[in-house]
Amino acid sequence: MSLSLKELFIKAKDFSSKHEKYFDVYEENFSKYKGKKITFVEVGIFNGGSLKIWKEYFGPDAKIIGIDINPECKKFEEDGIEIHIGNQSDPKFWDKFFSLVGNVDVILDDGGHTNLDQIITTTKCVNNINDKGILMVEDTHTSYIEFYNSSKKLSFINFAKKIIDDVNYTFPLNIKKKPNFNYSLNDQIYSTHFYESIVVFHINRKKAVVNTTVENQGTHHGIEDLVKEGNELNIKKFKEFTEKISFISLRKITKYFRKITNNKIIKKFFD
Ligand SMILES: C[S@@+](CC[C@H](N)C(=O)[O-])C[C@H]1O[C@@H](n2cnc3c(N)ncnc32)[C@H](O)[C@@H]1O
Repeated sequence: MSLSLKELFIKAKDFSSKHEKYFDVYEENFSKYKGKKITFVEVGIFNGGSLKIWKEYFGPDAKIIGIDINPECKKFEEDGIEIHIGNQSDPKFWDKFFSLVGNVDVILDDGGHTNLDQIITTTKCVNNINDKGILMVEDTHTSYIEFYNSSKKLSFINFAKKIIDDVNYTFPLNIKKKPNFNYSLNDQIYSTHFYESIVVFHINRKKAVVNTTVENQGTHHGIEDLVKEGNELNIKKFKEFTEKISFISLRKITKYFRKITNNKIIKKFFD
C-alpha cells in the first residue's frame, strides 16, 4: 500500500515544514492525480524536502517542477525534478516559464505568501493550467497579517472573494446586469474552495460555461411557483433596509433576519 503524504513527509530526507491541517486538504485535492502523467509545480522550494515528497506521492509518470527566487535551490534538480529560478510576483517570469514548460496540471503556491505574490501567481497561472487542473494557494492567512499586506483591502482573500462574484455572473439572469469587472476568470474557474489558510481553484473551461435550464418530459400539473409572492414582503422590507445602510455587515444582516422572521429554524441559524 502506498504511503500517505503525511507519512512521506515524516520520512523525507530533506527538510520541509507544513501545517498539520494541510495534509487532509492535499489528500482531498491531489489523490486523484496519483500515478497519472501530470505536471505538478510547487512555488517555494526552501530546503527541497517537499519536491521529493511530491515525486514519491505522484509516482514516476509525474513531472515535478519547483520554483524559487533563491538561486541556491537549483541544487535540488534531479531526474524527474526540474527547478526554475525566478520571482513569482514578476508577471514576466511567468510568461517565460510557461513558454518553456507549456501548460501544467497542478500548481501549489507555497512561495513568498505576500498578497502580490499570490494575486500575480493566480492571474498568470490560471490561463496555463489544463482542464481538470488545480491552483492551490497556501498560507492565505497572510491576508490578515500586516507584514504580508501592502493593503488589507487588496488582500488575496478579498481578491478570491471577487472570484466568487465573477463566477456567479455566468448565470444567465446575472450576466445581463453584470457589473463592469475589469478582470474576469469566470470562463476558466469552475469552482473555488476555501479552507482555513488555503484557497483552491478548480480549472475546467468545459464546465465554466453559461448555465442553461433543463426540463424533463414529466406531467406539469399547472401548479404555480409562488416564490415571488412568498418573498414579496421580505424583498420590499429588505430593500428598504439595505437602502438605509451603506455597508452590510454579516452582523447587521443576521440581526435583520432575526427581527423579521418567526421561523424557528431560520431564527436558530442566525442566532
Ligand atoms: C515556505 S518556503 C517553501 C517551503 C517548501 N514548499 C516546503 O514545503 O518545504 C518559501 C520559499 O519561497 C521562496 N520565495 C519567497 N518569495 C518568493 C518569490 N517572490 N518568488 C519565488 N519564490 C519565493 C523562498 O525563497 C522560500 O524558499
